[in-house]
Amino acid sequence: MFSLYSFLLAGLVCHSLGQYDDYDEYYFPSAPQGAVSSPTCAQDCECPSNFPTAMYCNERSLKFVPIVPSGIKYLYLQNNNIEEIKAGVFDNATDLRWLVLDNNNITSDKIQAGTIDKLSSLEKLLFSNNKLTKPPGPLSKSLDELKLIGNQLSSFPSNTLSGMENLTTIHLSKNKLTTESITGAFKGLKSLVLLDVSENKLKKLPAGVPPSLLMLYADHNDIDSIPNGYLAKLPALQYLRVSHNKMVDSGIPAGVFNVSSLLELDLSFNKLKTIPEINESLEHLYLQVNDISKFDLSNICKFISPVNYSRLRTLRLDGNNLTHSSMPDDTSNCLRQASEIIFE
Ligand SMILES: *[C@@H]1O[C@H](CO)[C@@H](O)[C@H](O)[C@H]1NC(C)=O
Ligand SMILES: *[C@@H]1O[C@H](CO)[C@@H](O)[C@H](O)[C@H]1NC(C)=O
Ligand SMILES: *[C@@H]1O[C@H](CO)[C@@H](O)[C@H](O)[C@H]1NC(C)=O
Ligand SMILES: *[C@@H]1O[C@H](CO)[C@@H](O)[C@H](O)[C@H]1NC(C)=O
Ligand SMILES: *[C@@H]1O[C@H](CO)[C@@H](O)[C@H](O)[C@H]1NC(C)=O
Ligand SMILES: *[C@@H]1O[C@H](CO)[C@@H](O)[C@H](O)[C@H]1NC(C)=O
Ligand SMILES: *[C@@H]1O[C@H](CO)[C@@H](O)[C@H](O)[C@H]1NC(C)=O
Repeated sequence: MFSLYSFLLAGLVCHSLGQYDDYDEYYFPSAPQGAVSSPTCAQDCECPSNFPTAMYCNERSLKFVPIVPSGIKYLYLQNNNIEEIKAGVFDNATDLRWLVLDNNNITSDKIQAGTIDKLSSLEKLLFSNNKLTKPPGPLSKSLDELKLIGNQLSSFPSNTLSGMENLTTIHLSKNKLTTESITGAFKGLKSLVLLDVSENKLKKLPAGVPPSLLMLYADHNDIDSIPNGYLAKLPALQYLRVSHNKMVDSGIPAGVFNVSSLLELDLSFNKLKTIPEINESLEHLYLQVNDISKFDLSNICKFISPVNYSRLRTLRLDGNNLTHSSMPDDTSNCLRQASEIIFE
């Protein structure tokens, strides 16, 4: 399974090169065709004899989580009508690593004690599109992936993720999280590479995020500024997305994007009037649909030496008050590698 996961992560990093990504298709392998189910399998589910550690219960109109037999490591329960996780169902599932509960109707108060909190080997908890108002748990410290997209989370206690040294990806988009509700929640997560808090109610970028972070997605919030030195504390960060927020020029301190790790910066759909100053190592800059009316060449054209100049390949400026005639004559000279410059 480790190699499969490496593949998932590779796919994820690779897809991130685009402005939007979609990797859900990799997650839910269905039961192998024509496989014979093992005798201990839950009624209504399928446990293929050639993959005896997996139990497939997806798309079966289930109302409850069935009792999971011992030995199951991968449990697929997505796309049902499950509303409740009753005590006892996981009593023998002490080896469970992956628990997939996406697209059900589970509320936080219907997760009984002694269920998810007893899964001490859990590595992936995929629980998107349910009705959770707080994260389930306490969750196992062995978790490496947590996906709670499209719930109603308004609370996220600061100790929810503490000690999860192997946690690499956290998806919390499409919830009701505020800046206060996530304060301190991501501190000390040594392995975290992706944090997605887009489509929430944040007024600020999350504080205390670990230096291992590669991707930070905070689109569709109410963020108006980036704290001075924020990126300097994230030396591995390559992708920063803050589109569809309330960013204004005064919220961007001088030099805040002067870091050499950043490859993609998405500030589209904000209220910027000027092009922010970047470092020559940035490759993709999205600034479409802002209020920019001046082309500040010196902010994006960093000519270091004849062999070292701006690596910008994508520059989107459409939906601003700019035309090709606003572009200074020496632009093409500087943006030599740019393959996609879009104005209108
Ligand atoms: C979830 O519950 C609501 C009623 O609370 C119901 O209308 C809806 O069909 C249910 N959805 C699923 C996927 O079971
Ligand atoms: C757990 O396994 C034991 C031994 O096989 C069995 O007696 C018991 O009924 C099982 N418990 C559940 C909740 O399935
Ligand atoms: C993290 O992963 C390593 C290597 O797989 C493992 O030895 C360690 O126990 C894990 N940490 C936790 C808290 O589960
Ligand atoms: C960017 O930061 C470096 C130090 O890391 C500094 O030498 C350089 O002058 C800064 N550039 C600008 C334009 O402030
Ligand atoms: C870009 O960042 C590198 C590394 O911090 C720094 O040495 C360089 O001066 C920066 N470039 C500019 C134009 O500030
Ligand atoms: C180009 O500049 C970067 C820092 O901005 C530096 O790391 C790199 O070594 C330079 N390359 C050359 C060929 O001068
Ligand atoms: C748009 O740009 C033109 C000049 O390029 C300027 O005269 C005009 O005031 C700008 N409009 C707005 C709304 O900024």
